[in-house]
Amino acid sequence: VTAVAIVGGTGDLGFGLALRLATAGVDVVIGSRDADRAAEAAVSALAQVPGGTISGAANAEAVTSVDVVVVAVPFAAQARTLTEIAGALHEGQLLVDATVPLATAVGGKPTRTIEVWAGSAAQQAQELVGAVRVVSALHTVSAASLAALDQELDEDVLLCGDRRADKHAVAQLLELIPGLRCIDAGQLEMSRVVEQMTALMISINIRHKAHAGIRIAGLDGHERWPVA
Ligand SMILES: NC(=O)c1ccc[n+]([C@@H]2O[C@H](COP(=O)([O-])OP(=O)(O)OC[C@H]3O[C@@H](n4cnc5c(N)ncnc54)[C@H](OP(=O)(O)O)[C@@H]3O)[C@@H](O)[C@H]2O)c1
Repeated sequence: VTAVAIVGGTGDLGFGLALRLATAGVDVVIGSRDADRAAEAAVSALAQVPGGTISGAANAEAVTSVDVVVVAVPFAAQARTLTEIAGALHEGQLLVDATVPLATAVGGKPTRTIEVWAGSAAQQAQELVGAVRVVSALHTVSAASLAALDQELDEDVLLCGDRRADKHAVAQLLELIPGLRCIDAGQLEMSRVVEQMTALMISINIRHKAHAGIRIAGLDGHERWPVA
């Protein structure tokens, strides 16, 4: 993967991810509903990653010429955002969806989620983008940890998607970030479970005043991307 667009890249998760990917040498396009806001975010990201290749563009423009599109917007904005960019996506791209259906979307608590008719936010995303395949990821990685470039990450990222090759490609991208280990967690429908884990992590992190992530035990020495 050579270039990544981050839709909602002006936000907490997207901006932190932009910093980490740019540090790892990936070309990053920060997307926003507002092209000026995207450009400002790119300038401030470049100030933190002076050697990086980071630009900003309106969401639909940002996604046109990249290999991977990351969607990092609140659940309340996910469907509208995907509908807006769907026409600009093209076959062969992968869409990485990090959306969590937190109850904050309807004025509720961040330690609760709401039910999504499609089964999960990731499955809803897949319904909306058609031919472009969705891998869900990053639900348990805290934006604050990503943004703290002076701190080494040390956690797992659970990937859900219907094709192993897609998950492997996303893993190769995210593992360019030191301290992240990606794990194939199953098909896209398994995102139903993984998205709920964010509510758990928020609950834990509130209590411990931390930005903790997750670690799956017992996988060392096991093949992570077995040939089917
Ligand atoms: N924060 C975390 O630690 C974390 C961790 C794992 C997963 N996630 C998930 O990742 C997604 C993004 O989280 P976040 O914390 O980065 O969110 P955020 O900072 O509140 O928002 C991200 C961006 O979404 C865009 N956006 C589009 N429509 C919006 C609307 N109607 N209202 C508000 N913003 C809108 C905004 O960009 P423009 O205004 O520039 O368009 C905003 O900067 C969420 O689904 C969240 O559950 C977050």
